[in-house]
Amino acid sequence: MRLHPSSLHRSLREPVLGSIGFLNEVMSRYPEAVSFAPGAPHPDTLGDADIQRHLDRFADHLVRGGRTPEQARRLLVEYGPSRGIINDLVGAALRRDYGIDADPRAVVVTVGAQEAMLLVLRALFGTAEEALAVANPCFVGIVGAARLLGVEVVPVDESEYGIDLDGLEDTCATARAEGRPVRALYVAPDFSNPGGARLSLRCRHRLLDLAHREDFLIIEDNAYGFTATSGSELPPLKALDTRRRVIHIGTFAKIAFPGARVGYVIADQEVASSASGGVSGFLADELAALKSVVTVNTSPLCQAVIGGMLLEHGGSVLELSRRKSALYQRNLTCLVDALDRHIDADLLPDVHWNRPRGGFFVRMRLPVPADVALLETSAETYGVLWTPMEQFYLDGTGDHQLRLSCSYLDPGQIEEGVRRLALFLEREVGTVPSPRGRSAVPELPPGRR
Ligand SMILES: Cc1ncc(COP(=O)(O)O)c(C=O)c1O
Repeated sequence: MRLHPSSLHRSLREPVLGSIGFLNEVMSRYPEAVSFAPGAPHPDTLGDADIQRHLDRFADHLVRGGRTPEQARRLLVEYGPSRGIINDLVGAALRRDYGIDADPRAVVVTVGAQEAMLLVLRALFGTAEEALAVANPCFVGIVGAARLLGVEVVPVDESEYGIDLDGLEDTCATARAEGRPVRALYVAPDFSNPGGARLSLRCRHRLLDLAHREDFLIIEDNAYGFTATSGSELPPLKALDTRRRVIHIGTFAKIAFPGARVGYVIADQEVASSASGGVSGFLADELAALKSVVTVNTSPLCQAVIGGMLLEHGGSVLELSRRKSALYQRNLTCLVDALDRHIDADLLPDVHWNRPRGGFFVRMRLPVPADVALLETSAETYGVLWTPMEQFYLDGTGDHQLRLSCSYLDPGQIEEGVRRLALFLEREVGTVPSPRGRSAVPELPPGRR
């Protein structure tokens, strides 16, 4: 039987679903190229994962907690509770490291942050009459999940200082006037992907006040918070959330290892019982109910490995991520320094990039479209790969930008990659006249000059 694409769900034709496959395909065709495309963890960070040791450590923890060794073993190999088996460890780590004071019953352990996003959107968006606001440019995972579920997405501009709060207020007013109020906002306050933005403490408070005034929930993604330099950490929105407006999502993909597929969501919003009107539980209970028909439970074996890793680091996600955070800071510094040294401002006056303080990504603006054709030239002739930014924008802008990821490379590869990138830009981009005044090219903060 041959299926016509039009007979399948329309979300399958959304470009966002093909973006990761496309990059993998380009990378596989140019194995010798230096690739600034993947936002994957550095291979050196994966050596920490000694699976058997972590499993033993977690099993021992269970036995110390009163289980027999056989009960501990069975917990790891049988089906498990939908909400997870390491919730207490995760909840305690977030309290200790980030000051997030959530009830342990409000934690659900998910199959990566990605599943958490899907569950949260499914729970919050019952009708097409409400909208999800997202920072623009935006992580494709949340937009893809929204498309899959038929959730309307409205973009709100993000600068290097984070989401534009005045713009968000305007968006709320417009959306309400159009009969489709903003129900939730997705935001990554610490080093967003791909924008690298960070929200100041003052703006975090302003955002929380706005959420209260405009009556929306905040879906906070903390995937890159751990990359802040020691001493420059800011409290996540959830730690400042006195009104339970924030649903906090995190992942062990970058601080432990991505193959575990373990993430979590904290959803301590009270849910009223439909019969009595009284409080019957947390939003987390509803997410666990949804999860029971999505992935049933996150693999107990994978949770146990992560649990063992946490225990080995005194129950702290910050301790677990300390070495990795230093590695990514080093790589980010190498990348920005190499751009400063190799890209000649006289030859390329219209090439600009930002200078994020953490995260994995730098974005660069060109005077020409950074499209698939240009990427092919870059890969084939100059042996350097990057990610076109257009796919991260919801409003068609961003077509003159590219994203450079520093996470997967060593300093030597970064240096060589930027040398190749500079050559590519000089030969393919430098001769093009400046499109100053062209409104379709969003300004970037001055990266180098
Ligand atoms: C913004 C953001 N959120 C979450 C994740 C991780 O999701 P997961 O835990 O599903 O791998 C990523 C990974 O690329 C990301 O960039």
